[in-house]
Amino acid sequence: MKAWKVIYNDWIPEKQPTREALTTLGNGYFAARGAAEESDAGGPHYPGTYLACGYNRMTSKVSGREVENEDLVNWANWLSLKFRIEDGDWFDLEKVEIIKYRNELDLKSGILKRTVGFVDQEGRESLLISRRLVHMKFSHLAAIEWKITPQNWSGKIEVQSAIDGTVTNSGVDRYSDLRGDHLKPLFTKQVDDKCIMLVVKTKQSKIRMAQSARTTVFSDDEPISADSEITEKEGYIAQYLTFNAEQNKTVRVEKIVGLHTSRDNAISEPALEACNAVQRAGNFEDLLTSHTREWKQLWYRCDLELEEGEYTQMILRLHIFHILQTASANTIDLDVGIPARGWHGEAYRGHIFWDELFVFPFLNFQLPELARSLLMYRYRRLPEARRAARNAGFKGAMFPWQSGSNGREESQELHLNPKSGEWDRDDTYLQRHVGAAIAYNIHQYFEATRDLEFMSFYGAEMLLEIARFWSSIAEWNPDRERFEIRGVVGPDEFHTQYPDSDKPGLNNNAYTNVMAVWVLQKALNMVEQLSETRKVELFEELDIDESELERWEKITRKMYVPFIKKGIISQFERYDDLQEMDWDKYRKKYDDVQRMDRILKAEGDTPNRYKVGKQADVLMLFYLFSVEQLKEIFNRLGYEFEPSSIPENVDYYLKRSSHGSTLSRLVYSWVMSRSDRERSWKAFQKALLSDFEDVQGGTTSEGIHLGAMAGTVDIVQRCYTGLEIRDGVLWINPRLPRELQSLKMRIRYRGHWIHFLFNHKIVEVTFEAGWSPKVEIGFREKVYTFGEGDRKTFSL
Ligand code: BGC
Repeated sequence: MKAWKVIYNDWIPEKQPTREALTTLGNGYFAARGAAEESDAGGPHYPGTYLACGYNRMTSKVSGREVENEDLVNWANWLSLKFRIEDGDWFDLEKVEIIKYRNELDLKSGILKRTVGFVDQEGRESLLISRRLVHMKFSHLAAIEWKITPQNWSGKIEVQSAIDGTVTNSGVDRYSDLRGDHLKPLFTKQVDDKCIMLVVKTKQSKIRMAQSARTTVFSDDEPISADSEITEKEGYIAQYLTFNAEQNKTVRVEKIVGLHTSRDNAISEPALEACNAVQRAGNFEDLLTSHTREWKQLWYRCDLELEEGEYTQMILRLHIFHILQTASANTIDLDVGIPARGWHGEAYRGHIFWDELFVFPFLNFQLPELARSLLMYRYRRLPEARRAARNAGFKGAMFPWQSGSNGREESQELHLNPKSGEWDRDDTYLQRHVGAAIAYNIHQYFEATRDLEFMSFYGAEMLLEIARFWSSIAEWNPDRERFEIRGVVGPDEFHTQYPDSDKPGLNNNAYTNVMAVWVLQKALNMVEQLSETRKVELFEELDIDESELERWEKITRKMYVPFIKKGIISQFERYDDLQEMDWDKYRKKYDDVQRMDRILKAEGDTPNRYKVGKQADVLMLFYLFSVEQLKEIFNRLGYEFEPSSIPENVDYYLKRSSHGSTLSRLVYSWVMSRSDRERSWKAFQKALLSDFEDVQGGTTSEGIHLGAMAGTVDIVQRCYTGLEIRDGVLWINPRLPRELQSLKMRIRYRGHWIHFLFNHKIVEVTFEAGWSPKVEIGFREKVYTFGEGDRKTFSL
């Protein structure tokens, strides 16, 4: 059972911000941090509520400049529930003697439960047990239950149940110079004797959100009469309930919350719907039953069951849990993408980066309907990406490095370096590789589903436009007789320009160039597969002709890829001219050297001068492509590629990496999984702890790292099992680490539900259900046909 629970048995204020992020509850529509109900923002508490893709823009004055930012908005706090005894102090963890504390996130049922035994300054001992859910099925509902038991006293209890819209975005210290007053209060209302409501609106994006709360007090499951009073002020409404409690008799408080916005489908008006939602909802137990049922069904599809130490299992489940809380069936049909930090905090302002590259593989195989919906987030922003390309002097679609509401570039121009207190210029928007990641996701989704309708209607258009962008940014260098891509930044964000240049951008980032080739190749293949009618339609609409395709084809044979020496790919052109880092010097001086960029900049230096990487840049190629695929790409380009060079590349870059991004270790672990299993497992374990132990020291509290979470799940799902779709065949090539005895999982593949059991001796494949044509499974060079009901055991 422990492998289903995250348990904190102590109240440690300094750890609370991280724990709040890790115990966030969400349902793919909205999320709320695991803050204690009774606490307002301040000290260790930050009760943030976020709507999936609920953004607002504001202009702030920073260092004498006007800076516009689009933020994921912190909405009114519906968690707010407080109590006091006999007109005493309101209950506050910091002001009582805690004699028992346990905070427990039950991953199986999506419940956050807290038990606090305490003695107040008057010597009164009480027990408070709270349970909370954000409903996974009825996405507009959430609920809190409090059980209060007086242990050595009887007397009056006053409960305050509020909806607090006076909150601001203040979850990230670094952003404190920026405005966070996104909400404009509209009105408050007492709906009836149990129900209150608050309506607010974001100042610029004008999203209206209505929250309603129905609070009831019970004794022995019977509602008890309580004196009720309402307080209202601008942006805030609270209901006060006063009643008598007896020693050793538990009273129960239920707060059922409804939340609707003007963005919702199938509504008349958010205030009306929020009101309806709570009035029609059952009580806490009813909601718990339907919520738990939904989670049970999700786990049936999405669990990875390991036979291994419970720790790995629990953290993997925590990661799956947070993926599903960020995007779930409730997200389908919403205009929502995959945020880098979940809807769990305000870091990176809730923006959408390339991190979805690490999340899609899981969703493609578990919830393909959801993956499709998330791809549509990008499709809807294709016009904006076209505009961005044109403005930068290119053709096709140039997707932004950071995306928010309407798909324009949301990257900051300035970034605060907490080490120096200085605002540094931020050129990371030059990471054009984000478009390649989108193309890769489209391709992977299609491979896993064969969703021809999607491909033909939406995917093809995106692929063609992304390919066209790569073709237009690639320049022919007659001296080299090769195409080049100049002035970009690769995934390793530490390097944004040459030390001897005053212009941002680097030339021929190997990852970017190879991805560009891959995209062009895939677009060409896809054109061949399109029906003639659709091809003509798209070519007419996008004005593509054969000569353009000829150029694409030429680029796939003539793109330049820099090498440091035989077999070692150069991260970008002239990387080898950079200085080696004196790692010892910095390790002696600083406890933590993960963010070498900030350290160097604070010392008046710059990472641009050194061979120091934030994350595995070149190695992304070995992460995304199999040896066979890379051989094909490189050979076509006329470069030698020996699989034996992979470990050398890994060694080379591992030595020069500070792992400043949580994505880094993940990629190392994957690429070493077959050559150096020991190191790979260690890197995997570290990646697994990225958030759980907040390895970056303070970043998890600002939001989880969804890419790292999903990436670790994917290592188990695809890397250890060797699951790969190649030439229309689903290949399995398992190599479980010694530490994993067995693995059970279900995947959805081209309309089939397949159950796998892997251990060190066998692989058992069972086609449990599905209505689709038979598919092929490949194992050790042989291909087998499977349809519904088929089962086969392969010996290893
Ligand atoms: C990483 C990027 C990532 C971003 C958002 C950065 O620290 O370097 O690769 O996309 O975080 O997670």
